[in-house]
Amino acid sequence: MLALLLAMTTMAQNERRTIRSGELWPDNTGTHINAHGGGIMKYGDTYYWFGEHKSDHTSDALVGVTCYASTDLRNWRNCGVALSVSDERGSDIERGCILERPKVIYNPITKKFCMWFHLELKGRGYDAARYGVAVANRPEGPYKFLYSQRANAGTWPIEFGEKELATIDTLNAAHFKESWTPAWHKAVDEGLFVKRDFGTGQMSRDMTLYVDDDGKAYHIFSSEENLTLHIAELTGDYLHHSGRYTRVAPAGHNEAPAIFKHEGTYWMITSGCTGWAPNEARMFSAPSIWGPWKQHPNPCRGPKAELTFGGQSTYILPLNTKLSTINSQYIFMADIWRPRHPSDARYIWLPIEFEDGKPIVRWRDEWAF
Ligand code: DGJ
Repeated sequence: MLALLLAMTTMAQNERRTIRSGELWPDNTGTHINAHGGGIMKYGDTYYWFGEHKSDHTSDALVGVTCYASTDLRNWRNCGVALSVSDERGSDIERGCILERPKVIYNPITKKFCMWFHLELKGRGYDAARYGVAVANRPEGPYKFLYSQRANAGTWPIEFGEKELATIDTLNAAHFKESWTPAWHKAVDEGLFVKRDFGTGQMSRDMTLYVDDDGKAYHIFSSEENLTLHIAELTGDYLHHSGRYTRVAPAGHNEAPAIFKHEGTYWMITSGCTGWAPNEARMFSAPSIWGPWKQHPNPCRGPKAELTFGGQSTYILPLNTKLSTINSQYIFMADIWRPRHPSDARYIWLPIEFEDGKPIVRWRDEWAF
């Protein structure tokens, strides 16, 4: 009896009641949560956090995608490896590949859990620029790898009509050897890279998934050499692209997209492209997922706001109710990368508030809900 009481007291003492961004975040075994570049899926009363397992000395995928479960978003149970890398030589997800930013969504029609992630084939740096898809019957997995490829081969974005296609016809990559000139910028805007990759498929790197109120799902990813974001609709089973996609901020150099919808407006927070180093967050809004997308100033407020508090966006979690302590119903999630000790990367979780009708993310050392 005494032992039980003692155990219960220790459990209660260890219970985490607040969120402390940037600090170590122990799971139920006392180990720092290892789920980076991640996202959260709610199924029933439980939140499932999926992310990249990072090793101590390399950012290459030596383990796979990890999963943690929680009912209060503060105390997380380690559910182990949801998608394991493969030991089969030549497998797309061979151990040592680069597997980043996994996201999982549940398909109520097929009753399957669908995982999408950014995949780079082993030994090829960031050249492959593919997305990968895996599927499971249970939220925590095991996930079965289905395929990886580039996006929307042989398909033009929905906004490319006859006029745009006639312009594209005249674009010749050989005329734009120098980047960032006004002429190059215009050509990227007109689809220089979409044309280059039309046959093989569009590049697909940093990514997230979004399920809209009508059940339609979208894959949002950095494409065209990370210059332009693509938003691609998924098929009803959430396992393929439907072929309908649009481009956002051509030549804007956006990575790390995270998206939510508030009172009918879609908001997207992204980062610039500076590798593992932090930079200033960007924000966009649109009245429809198909745009038009408009850019707004950096939503971050507080110390190091100009560097996203040292982190890089990964996901925005909508909550069904307003937080009791803060006037917010969304949590902004970001990663503080530690490229020299990848497993020690830290998490930023902050509530999204609204100021003058626009989202802001204010730094808080510690907050409760
Ligand atoms: C920034 C991306 O957002 C990360 O996911 C990762 O790909 C790093 N670049 C690699 O430098």
